[in-house]
Amino acid sequence: MKLADKVAIVTGGAQGMGRAISLRYAQEGASVVIADRNLEGAEAVAREISDADGKAVSVSVDVRDQGQVQRMVDTAVEHFGGLDILVNNAGVGKIIPFLDTTEADWNFMFDINCKGLLWCSQAAARQMITQGRGGKIVNLASQAGRRGEALVLAYCASKACVISMNQSMALALAPHKINVNAIAPGIVDTPFWDEVDRQFAALLNMEIGEPKRTFIQSIPLGRIEQPEDITGAAVFLASADADYITQQTLNVDGGNWPS
Ligand SMILES: NC(=O)c1ccc[n+]([C@@H]2O[C@H](COP(=O)([O-])OP(=O)(O)OC[C@H]3O[C@@H](n4cnc5c(N)ncnc54)[C@H](O)[C@@H]3O)[C@@H](O)[C@H]2O)c1
Repeated sequence: MKLADKVAIVTGGAQGMGRAISLRYAQEGASVVIADRNLEGAEAVAREISDADGKAVSVSVDVRDQGQVQRMVDTAVEHFGGLDILVNNAGVGKIIPFLDTTEADWNFMFDINCKGLLWCSQAAARQMITQGRGGKIVNLASQAGRRGEALVLAYCASKACVISMNQSMALALAPHKINVNAIAPGIVDTPFWDEVDRQFAALLNMEIGEPKRTFIQSIPLGRIEQPEDITGAAVFLASADADYITQQTLNVDGGNWPS
């Protein structure tokens, strides 16, 4: 088991990739804090892990709220005695044409995807620095952060911001032996992409499901990504195998974006 005796927090752990990472981390021996603003969903994932003889606890958190974020880290310490891994997975997206993008849209995406990521990383890093045994932070970026898209300006910008924050945090935390790396998924079959599909369909005058089918056609590996497809990279980047890797953003996207 690659994460034996480690303690991990996964934000947005109630569904989609956060759920898949949480289940896989527990299988690899980690104790997992499932942190989500959807407490019912987080509790269900924690139960799934406990039922399979793993260790997990759920906590309600809105990553935009620093007080709640601190309580999330305190939960890991109280239940499992410390913190070794943070996965900044909670994120939101909205498909909006450039000229229609409002301040509310911009703030919604940047507050959760970037500011929330900063608060979670600060709180986790302070705990890891106090412990003095290093740590791992894994950030969920996106292929959207690698380039612009006419209908996706704010989300693309927020994920480019995640890639930049990933670099700065890696440099700031390197002296403390805390590795900071990111994963850039492609088109992943989660509730997130169901909503993205509906929004693209409305804007492009397509049937529901058509945007997804169209985009999938250009993926070199020939199929949509499943949440489980990113769990190998998420385990690797959180494990001792990645002790000499930091500041990187790894594409896990079926070859959809080349760099
Ligand atoms: N699905 C994709 O195609 C795709 C591709 C690339 C990157 N991503 C990114 O991967 C991450 C996970 O995506 P997903 O598809 O699993 O999403 P999802 O919508 O299925 O799940 C996201 C989870 O985050 C939680 N969340 C949202 N806002 C929160 C907040 N303020 N505080 C706490 N929890 C909050 C939600 O309740 C939900 O459980 C996101 O950061 C997303 O931007 C997704």
